[in-house]
Amino acid sequence: MANAPQEKARIAVLASGAGSNAEALLSHFAEGSGAEVADVVWVCTNRRGAGVRARAEKFGVEESHIPKAEMTTGALLEALQRRRIDWVALAGFLLKVPGQVCDAFEGRMVNIHPALLPKFGGAGMYGMHVHRAVKEAGESVSGMTIHFVNEQYDDGDIVFQGEVDLRPEDAPEDIAAKVMELEHRHYPQVLEGLIRLAQGTDVRDRTHLKSHMR
Ligand code: GRF
Repeated sequence: MANAPQEKARIAVLASGAGSNAEALLSHFAEGSGAEVADVVWVCTNRRGAGVRARAEKFGVEESHIPKAEMTTGALLEALQRRRIDWVALAGFLLKVPGQVCDAFEGRMVNIHPALLPKFGGAGMYGMHVHRAVKEAGESVSGMTIHFVNEQYDDGDIVFQGEVDLRPEDAPEDIAAKVMELEHRHYPQVLEGLIRLAQGTDVRDRTHLKSHMR
């Protein structure tokens, strides 16, 4: 007898800004291999004017604005639970995630950071601040990190890192563009891989997760 089909995972994306990574996730889980395992069902932002809201709308996905003050008083956890969310993906989310949400989603909440952690991470290290710091340090390689989320900024266990070579003449804007390309390419794939692993399909033999899982 065939196994009962696995129920699809429900993903929430938390974002504060333009939302290009959120869009990469929305697109990936809307069709193809991503859509086999999960749906992005909710996009939530702490900033009323965040560009990510229009991106969610474009995909017909529910979006909400929860102000910072409410996030910390339990509204976020309650909203996630009410929507029966299984996985949380941070995509340019600039607030610290409340401890109760970290506890409830331990091992099921990931973040993407535009540098090779543990370098160039922590409070104040976001957006162009990161790429300027990489430039000032004279790095010849940068990249992106996907990691589990805990209560500290950029501190949870690393799941995947992608690297890109830098040229001495690369300006911070060039570094940002190279890293962004990596982010959009890998974040959806890595999240799909994690969900498949959690669902009991061991994907490590046939995805790029294999060599990078730690
Ligand atoms: C990305 O570089 C991501 O790594 C970081 O914030 C940025 C968000 O960009 N956490 P976008 O809003 O996804 O375009």
